[in-house]
Amino acid sequence: MRHLMSPLDFTREELEQLMDLADDIKNHPDKYSEKCHGKKLATCFYEPSTRTRLSFEAAMLNLGGSVLGFSSADSSSAAKGESVSDTIRVISSYADICAMRHPKEGAPLVASSRSLIPVINAGDGGHQHPTQTLTDLFTIRSLRGEIKDLTIGLCGDLKFGRTVHSLINALVRYPGIKFVLISPEELRVPEYIREDVLEKNGYEYKEVDTLDDVMGELDILYMTRVQRERFFNEEDYIRLKDFFILTPEKMNLAKKDMMVLHPLPRVNEIAVDVDDDPRAMYFTQAKYGVFIRMALILTLLEIPC
Ligand code: CP
Repeated sequence: MRHLMSPLDFTREELEQLMDLADDIKNHPDKYSEKCHGKKLATCFYEPSTRTRLSFEAAMLNLGGSVLGFSSADSSSAAKGESVSDTIRVISSYADICAMRHPKEGAPLVASSRSLIPVINAGDGGHQHPTQTLTDLFTIRSLRGEIKDLTIGLCGDLKFGRTVHSLINALVRYPGIKFVLISPEELRVPEYIREDVLEKNGYEYKEVDTLDDVMGELDILYMTRVQRERFFNEEDYIRLKDFFILTPEKMNLAKKDMMVLHPLPRVNEIAVDVDDDPRAMYFTQAKYGVFIRMALILTLLEIPC
């Protein structure tokens, strides 16, 4: 039995197979509409979510399966003090696979160690968000043809933004990737990512605190929200929340084929006027999340395709 805690749980070859399957699902959805008939997905979300939870549920429904679960800690017995270990032991007898989001880093890993069914980390604190990374990789591959020789700007809250941590971990396996890390000093990428992931693997990167100066270099701009829920005080959040705002004027500085991604939700960091720019791909990215999650469910349940 296999779980997904980090994008590194899959080899690069397995990631390619997963994306090939997602591609086939995107092009031939009818072929897959009964593949999970009789199977159940549990979504155990101890933290708010729109895309991740609902795209997992849409994925299982598209595969002909069923879904059950809870969308907040308050509406589960966690509110009475139940541990994730006990919860997953119980859910193992109700469902065939579980997607779990938790504010505590490592909670889905603890659950996986006690689980009798595959557990998918759907975001744990400021740590990892592997299925967002699968979505990001699949979006890049689908829209650019391959993941290779790209200058990728990661902009915003690189300290608490778990999607960025997972994405860097995954992208260092691809050739010719250069990173431009764009953030205020206080929200820089954690040291363990800089030293253990980027420097150890000899990856080219630079850290800057202005967007305008680097716009023209980028093939992909990955914007992120400042993660209010991870700040210790509101004053710091207010001071930093509007540090970067992507506007149509800034888009004028970018390459004609630069792609803008964002894991969403967006707050202020991308002006709504940018949505009409053909380079704004974040809603397509959210749509592609369903296809890759369908492929992931089929793979972890070892359903022949
Ligand atoms: N991208 C993402 O994780 O969105 P949600 O928080 O809405 O699931």
